[in-house]
Amino acid sequence: MRNTVLRKIYRRARNVPADLALRTINIPMVENRLRARHEQARDRHEPDLPKLSAADMEIVDTLHRDGVYVTSLASLALPDTAEMFGSAQSIAGSYRDRVGTKAFSNWDVIMASAEEIMTHPEIFKWGLNQRLLNIVEAYLGLPVAYDGLNMFYTVADGRQVGTRKWHRDREDRRMIKIAVYCNDVDEDGGPLQVVRRDVVKGNLVDDFTYPVLSQEGLEKKLGAQITDHDVMTCTGPAGTVIFSDTASQYHRGKPAISRDRCAIFYNYFSRVPRHPFFCERSGLSRSQIAKLADGLTPEQRDCVLWRDSLPAIARLVPRDIA
Ligand SMILES: [Fe+2]
Repeated sequence: MRNTVLRKIYRRARNVPADLALRTINIPMVENRLRARHEQARDRHEPDLPKLSAADMEIVDTLHRDGVYVTSLASLALPDTAEMFGSAQSIAGSYRDRVGTKAFSNWDVIMASAEEIMTHPEIFKWGLNQRLLNIVEAYLGLPVAYDGLNMFYTVADGRQVGTRKWHRDREDRRMIKIAVYCNDVDEDGGPLQVVRRDVVKGNLVDDFTYPVLSQEGLEKKLGAQITDHDVMTCTGPAGTVIFSDTASQYHRGKPAISRDRCAIFYNYFSRVPRHPFFCERSGLSRSQIAKLADGLTPEQRDCVLWRDSLPAIARLVPRDIA
């Protein structure tokens, strides 16, 4: 109990600079300048955007229209998928075994450790496939930052905690997460859910404030009940891949009740994100990231080492801790 209170106090103190930075750039005059600069950067980058195949262009168009595109590892047919998915399933299996022995009783978030990811660099490197980077770049309209991945194991306990509450991700104005399911996920198995674009409008999605809401909390804000039609529920077999803009749309992992879910979330945003202090959430240290960047192509390295593109002032604010 005492430790929990101390942890909360430490977290609050440690996050003061990030909170202050957010408040400062949310001042309308500052945001207006930032937005103008962001739009200029997009205009300048437009001639350099990658040319996509018709199939990949459809992913980008659907993301613009719906904010979500569901496909599969088999349909994408990217190189090195078998190695990535084999390793991911073996990690998932080890978590299933440990959860079975009650090793994580009452944990709100169970996530593969940085050491496990370092042991399986093929999982990290899969997210750097040039086709994926091109799709993200075409969607964002800007050079891409790749922030690694989070591999979450969700126990089927029905609890509405952490990322199982409705929220928007805070890293940037827009971002892409690519989710890969490691097991079959049905309606009761913790599917990713995204609220349709036309359901949540106005301040709730336009402002850079980030309330985390229970089902009841979101309904209260909207002044109406959320129906099945209002939400895209992404069910699918193992190997399902979901592209979604999690910064501009409310989403959550629906609390699982029938069986545990393991999924990887690959994280992408623009190379100079609006909130660098809310990024770096993969659990990997900067030295581990530098090690993973060894031997990559120059384009991939630029995505992985995105912090090098930040203006000096943006690097001063320490990373927020959750
Ligand atoms: Fe999220």
